[in-house]
Amino acid sequence: MASLSVELSTPTSGKYTQPTGLFINNEFVKAVDGKTFETINPATEEVITSVHEATEKDVDIAVAAARKAFEGPWSQVTPQERGKLLVNLANLAEKNIELLASVEALDNGKSVVMAKGDLGAVIGCLRYYGGWADKIEGKVIDTNPGTFSYTRQEPVGVCAQIIPWNFPLLMLAWKIGPALATGNTIVLKTAEQTPLSGLVFATLFKEAGFPPGVVNIISGIGRIAGAAMSAHMDVDKIAFTGSTVVGRQIMKAAASSNLKKVTLELGGKSPNIVFNDADIENAISWVNFGIFYNHGQCCCAGSRIFVQAGIYDEFVQRFKARAAANKVGDPFAPDTFQGPQVSQVQYDRIMGYIQEGKKAGATIETGGERHGDKGYFIQPTIFSNVTEDMTIVQEEIFGPVCSISKFETEEEVLKSANNSNYGLAAAVHTKNLNTAIRVSNALRAGTVWVNQYNMLHHQLPFGGYKESGIGRELGEAALSNYTQTKTVSIRLGDALFG
Ligand code: NAI
Ligand code: MG
Repeated sequence: MASLSVELSTPTSGKYTQPTGLFINNEFVKAVDGKTFETINPATEEVITSVHEATEKDVDIAVAAARKAFEGPWSQVTPQERGKLLVNLANLAEKNIELLASVEALDNGKSVVMAKGDLGAVIGCLRYYGGWADKIEGKVIDTNPGTFSYTRQEPVGVCAQIIPWNFPLLMLAWKIGPALATGNTIVLKTAEQTPLSGLVFATLFKEAGFPPGVVNIISGIGRIAGAAMSAHMDVDKIAFTGSTVVGRQIMKAAASSNLKKVTLELGGKSPNIVFNDADIENAISWVNFGIFYNHGQCCCAGSRIFVQAGIYDEFVQRFKARAAANKVGDPFAPDTFQGPQVSQVQYDRIMGYIQEGKKAGATIETGGERHGDKGYFIQPTIFSNVTEDMTIVQEEIFGPVCSISKFETEEEVLKSANNSNYGLAAAVHTKNLNTAIRVSNALRAGTVWVNQYNMLHHQLPFGGYKESGIGRELGEAALSNYTQTKTVSIRLGDALFG
């Protein structure tokens, strides 16, 4: 494929120009080896187009560009100016919201309405970190009268960032926002299932005013380009969102190369707990949204549902009716709630888990089958009669599949809820303030929602306990992933000691 762009069209954006090259030094370029790979529309199973594929050589070129920018022009840009550039970027994303959301829906399969919601969060995140850029401060630390000491929060350097396909643009914003606010440069790799929206977004950096090389965006395969980024000797930090398996590989690659700093945002198997005194109608809505939003492809999906015995039977009856009524279908239809899973691989993996659940003796309350005959659609699926040792209760399914079980006491449900290697999120539904706070404090998870679910916000830190990850994204907390503390200590006067 010679060209660096292709004319495409979506039902909501009409015709548009889709860049297909690697975005390095503010320009789209071809991959050195001339390789390309295809991306699929998961709603139709048809090929959308091919994009240029980065290999190790292209990663080297992108890292060199980021290094040059870090040591050169970017180091001269003032904090205030960095903030302004991030706000410019947010404004440009807002101006192009229709196109960006349409491309996201086309390549990922999420509904265009939900994709617009993602874009709202992208814009909010970039503006928020724009605001932080000139508020990165050190301290003066008084140790004795003969010394003057202070700390500086300096950027880490060249940051490699590897993102998944479930929220392509939102994950990009979460990664680049804090990294740019604090003065780093970036090589970001999108997921091979969803390279298109990142490339359209890349066109905005130059217009926003970023110097060449500050942000480089490459399309590539994980085990090739991603592995090269993790093992690179001139990358100072790697940030990753994706599977726990790959998270481990990245940490190993960092350890055996240059000990680059590592932050990981990995999987989850989050508990969603409903007490007898909850507002049942609201609880059903949030439980439904907690698992079926984004087709269950959320790291924080509330996939283990626990309902107290007093309302269990009523809850199951009403929840399954609610789930079965979720509109599954065309991402471009305005009333679609659930689109297709992202790929054949993910479809097969989820259907495999459903078979496994059936074999283990769990009961399907609703769903369990393919939806339609084209596209990777799966019916919203609820399993009951589960035990804690079942694979479907232990492993992340990352699809529209949940388990529901009955509990009697708070003590019992806390034991079950915390019985997981993961600890990303959790929720509790109750009208009793004491129960809400006691249970929230006892849950081993990075985020606990009370009487709601999936309500992430760019001001609120997000990340995992246990095997769900290392570090926190969003909020002020994310800044520390991208800065390192330098201590400067100055002797006042001539005395050698004192
Ligand atoms: P994955 O972890 O393989 O892919 C995520 C990203 O990592 C992609 O950009 C991919 O290119 C990259 N990658 C893959 N292998 C790599 C390697 N060896 N070195 C460096 N980078 C590499 O996840 P996949 O296969 O797409 O999905 C599998 C499962 O992972 C899902 O079923 C789900 O359970 C989990 N997952 C969790 C996500 C989250 O938000 N925490 C997002 C995506 C997947
Ligand atoms: Mg795709």
